[in-house]
This record gives sequence, C-alpha cells and structure tokens, in this order.
Amino acid sequence: MTVKSDEGDVLLDIRSLRTRIETLRGVVHPVNDVSLQCRAGRTLAVVGESGSGKSMTFLSVLGLLPAGGSIESGSVTYLGREISTASPKEMRRLRGKSIGMIFQDSLAGLNPSFTVGEQIGDVVRHHENASRSQARERAIETLGLVGLPNPRERVDYYPHQLSGGMRQRVMIAMGVALRPRVLVADEPTTALDVTVQAQIMELLDGLRRELGMSLVVITHDLGVVARYAEDVAVMYGGRVVEHGSVRQVLKSTNHPYTEALLRSSPRPDASVAELDPIPGQPPNLLAVPPGCGFHPRCHRRDGREDCTVQIPQLRALSPTSQLTACHHAEEMVMQEVST
Ligand SMILES: Nc1ncnc2c1ncn2[C@@H]1O[C@H](COP(=O)(O)OP(=O)(O)OP(=O)(O)O)[C@@H](O)[C@H]1O
Ligand SMILES: [Mg+2]
Repeated sequence: MTVKSDEGDVLLDIRSLRTRIETLRGVVHPVNDVSLQCRAGRTLAVVGESGSGKSMTFLSVLGLLPAGGSIESGSVTYLGREISTASPKEMRRLRGKSIGMIFQDSLAGLNPSFTVGEQIGDVVRHHENASRSQARERAIETLGLVGLPNPRERVDYYPHQLSGGMRQRVMIAMGVALRPRVLVADEPTTALDVTVQAQIMELLDGLRRELGMSLVVITHDLGVVARYAEDVAVMYGGRVVEHGSVRQVLKSTNHPYTEALLRSSPRPDASVAELDPIPGQPPNLLAVPPGCGFHPRCHRRDGREDCTVQIPQLRALSPTSQLTACHHAEEMVMQEVST
C-alpha cells in the first residue's frame, strides 16, 4: 500500500490509523483506517469536506487529540520509528523539532499578553535549553526567515500590533523555529484575504525549499493543491479514498468523490454558475453507513451490493497508478480511456 513514486523517501508513514473519541453520545471514529505517506522534500495536500477527519489525522499523529480521544489501532512511523505509542514526553520532544504544526485556528492561538518574540522564544527555550538571549536571537532570525520586515524591531510587538497576514507569519515562525523536517499547515490561508493567501503559500513553499522540509498542507482550495503540491490525499468520512500524485489524482481521478469534489470547486476557467455542489450530507459519525461511506451520495452506485455492504480498500489499479478505494474504480478508468 505504498504510493508509487520515484522521488523522495517516506518521512511520515501513516498506516491503517484509527482514532476514537468518547463522547456523551457514544464512541466515534473521526479517523478510521487512514493510510497515507509524506515524502522527503515534497508537499502533500490533504483535501476533503469539512468533518472528513483531516485535522484529527494530524492531531492523532502529534499526540494532541481532544479529551476522550486516543489512537485505537494502526501505526505512525517517523523516519521508520513507531511514534503512535510514544510516551507524552517523547511526543513533546518530537513536536516542533521533528514535526511542526501550524494549527487551523492559529490566528486565535497567539497570546495577546506576550510579545511575538517571547512566544517564539518560548518554543525554542522549551526544546533547546537555550538562554533567554539565544532564544530571542533565534526568534529574530526566524521572523526574518518568514519575511517579517524589520524583525529586530517587530520581535517586541504584541500580536494586536500586526496585521492578520503578519500574525500568520508569526505562527509559521513558531512552527519552524526548531527547523522541523515536516511542517503540517492546517488551512494556513483560510482566514486571510486572497492576496495574502497567495503570499503565505509562496512563503511556505519557499521555506520548504530553503529548510529542506516536507510540507503537509490541509486545504479546501484545489487551486493550492494544483499549484503547490506533488502528492495529494483525498479524505471522506474519516478515510483516505484516493492518494497519489497530484497529476494522477486531479487529472485522472478514479474515485467518484474526488470527481464530485473537483466539480464542486471553483476553477480558473469556470464561472460560479458552473459549480456543482455535492448533493447530500457528509456522514454522521454516530451512524456511519455500511459499506462505502460515500455510497448514499454516489451517482455511480448501482444495483451492485458491494457498495452498500463492503468497505472498499485503498488499492492501486496498476503498478504506477494512484491508490483508490472504490468498487467502481476499474469502470472509471475504462471510461476515461474511451472518452
Ligand atoms: N472533541 C470532539 N469530540 C467528538 N468529535 C469530534 C471532536 N472534534 C472533532 N470531532 C469530529 O471529528 C470529525 C473530524 O473532524 P476534523 O476536525 O478532523 O475535520 P476536518 O476534516 O479537519 O474538517 P474542517 O475542514 O472543517 O477543518 C468531525 O466529524 C468532528 O465533528
Ligand atoms: Mg480541520
């Protein structure tokens, strides 16, 4: 179950990961048999509707699940080492230093009572036993790295003295202060206006090259995927339903959900009137449909029982194709060949 690719070693390897959360209304599995790989030096985009488990997957990886949450089964390896069973202390060491994360609600994540330099410095001091002045120097250096003009002055600013785009740069600085090998950016541009969004993506892409990192970008923006990512994982209902190179998955998808997602997303060449929203509702985690989670909304579902009974497994249709979890994948390939 490995994405076929000639480039890049696997840094982060998630296999059959299942996460449970105990809620007042019962146990739910927001991450349900997720497998995906993040490769050295590359950008992996993770896409899927709201609630599909994108954030939960990486919060599971980093040991940052909400109360009542735990990994139930599966494995996560970082550079070949199992980390899903790491102790809280080991996880703290790994976070930031090996795998950095910029959280989804990150703009709200800055503390208004401390300067940006103190907040970045804290990350450094917590991990590297650095003195206050060393941490401050690293904060200044990192603020420069993320393109904050005049960092030696702005290091003493409070968050409210900076614009939204600048605050996002500060959050990115916190994510890369320890120079991680992998940076997970959870919807890094959602709260920002369009021109700033592009600047932030350019910045992340530049940092990836400069620091030799891998980037995982969780996004709803397929334009970002096409422009910045080499690999993509499409999630639906807590599962990865398609995973492979962007070229394969976006240009010749083998999954009806990816197809629907593409039709529902704005394209540069299409007007808003041409958008085709995905009918129906995402699955309710407390009442997951049997078989393929997408079957109640899938136009390819026919009289075949498979879709309503058997959960389709991620599989490659050929040695060089992407991985797809759909009983109809072969038909989709045939149609593509004949059109
Ligand atoms: N504390 C919690 N307790 C129970 N369920 C939760 C909790 N937090 C999130 N969930 C559920 O887990 C599922 C996956 O959530 P997750 O935040 O990973 O989605 P997402 O794909 O990141 O969505 P979005 O695009 O909106 O950020 C959702 O159905 C959500 O309702
Ligand atoms: Mg999310």
